Amino acid sequence: MPSSPVPTACRVPIALGDRSYDIVIGSGLWHDAAAWQGLPRAATALMVSNPAVARLYALALREALAPHFKRILTLELPDGEAHKDWASLNLIFERLLSEGCDRKTVLFALGGGVVGDMTGFAAASYMRGVPFVQVPTTLLAQVDSSVGGKTAINHPLGKNMIGAFYQPLRVVCDLDTLDTLPDRELSAGLAEVIKYGPIADADFFDWIEAKLDALLARDRQALAHAVQRSCQIKAAVVAEDERENGLRAILNFGHTFGHAIEAGLGYGVWLHGEAVGCGMVLASELSVRLGLMPAAFAGRLRRLCERARLPVRAPDLGAERYLELMRIDKKSEGGELRFVLIEALGRATLRAVPDAEVRATLAAHLA
Ligand code: NAD
Ligand code: GLY
Repeated sequence: MPSSPVPTACRVPIALGDRSYDIVIGSGLWHDAAAWQGLPRAATALMVSNPAVARLYALALREALAPHFKRILTLELPDGEAHKDWASLNLIFERLLSEGCDRKTVLFALGGGVVGDMTGFAAASYMRGVPFVQVPTTLLAQVDSSVGGKTAINHPLGKNMIGAFYQPLRVVCDLDTLDTLPDRELSAGLAEVIKYGPIADADFFDWIEAKLDALLARDRQALAHAVQRSCQIKAAVVAEDERENGLRAILNFGHTFGHAIEAGLGYGVWLHGEAVGCGMVLASELSVRLGLMPAAFAGRLRRLCERARLPVRAPDLGAERYLELMRIDKKSEGGELRFVLIEALGRATLRAVPDAEVRATLAAHLA
């Protein structure tokens, strides 16, 4: 339970011209009219969620939205990464069409990154685009997936391979929802929080190390700062490079190895955040191998991930299988593997890496 006073709501703006929006972060936001003010008033809203999250929060969201809409529909998608696919996406389209939803209909994504990514993709493509709002309920979604407009579904051959860039109208992060999150999901979210330190903010990395026990204990002040600082960093990156022509790639630190773990084991066997945490450990070892960072850095990151209760030994899919899976990565060009590497604490770089260096890193670190 939260051990320190509830912080007041704050807003982190994302500057994207006429598609700018705010991330609202705070406690008790269901009952805070300001968090929902200014959203379009329309005939219909569709809340997309899953059974586990809807049971906990659909009623509260419905009450928050009641002043804005004549009709509020709820759709529960099957839970889990294994269902982030065409079949689930199609359930959203079927519901929208069967209910006669027009292009003013507003979609609300109530849940973690799986619900958020699919709802966003549905919003991007239904009638060529309808408005949507992210209401993230996992730490991972609050610090990363709900922010910045990447939407996608998985394909058996590759993670997040089919999707669109499409920004929400707003992101509403109610920290209270983190109280019901299973411990394993909290740790998965911490992986994406940790990510922001090495890639963008050495002081934040120090802060996470100092506050990790408070974060694991769900101290509300510590979580509020972690969400706010993570969103500030992501907002700055996205404002500069919305469509990942360059800088935004740094947000994928650990993801090249991580996506291979997820696809290789089968979606949902490891949580996305777990795969990213282990992927960051491998990418930091690769940074050391290439002479960009001292060995102490990789040890420091590994210890922090271990303390966050994340797995740090990569599953042994075989080095060749890793290479095969990583060549499908969106950063790969012409079959050449490219990785986000750390070149100074708080600064990342995207580099092509020879297969031999990747093989050597895998050989040293597979479970
Ligand atoms: P998730 O959406 O599967 O949620 C994790 C689990 O927690 C689910 O079982 C869910 O039902 C449950 N849950 C959610 N909120 C809860 C709550 N408050 N209380 C209790 N249970 C709750 O997983 P995730 O970690 O939130 O998201 C991972 C997904 O996000 C991956 O598909 C990943 O690719 C995607 N992602 C996208 C981006 C992006 O920029 N779009 C960035 C990072 C990750
Ligand atoms: N999570 C990576 C990105 O949003 O670009």
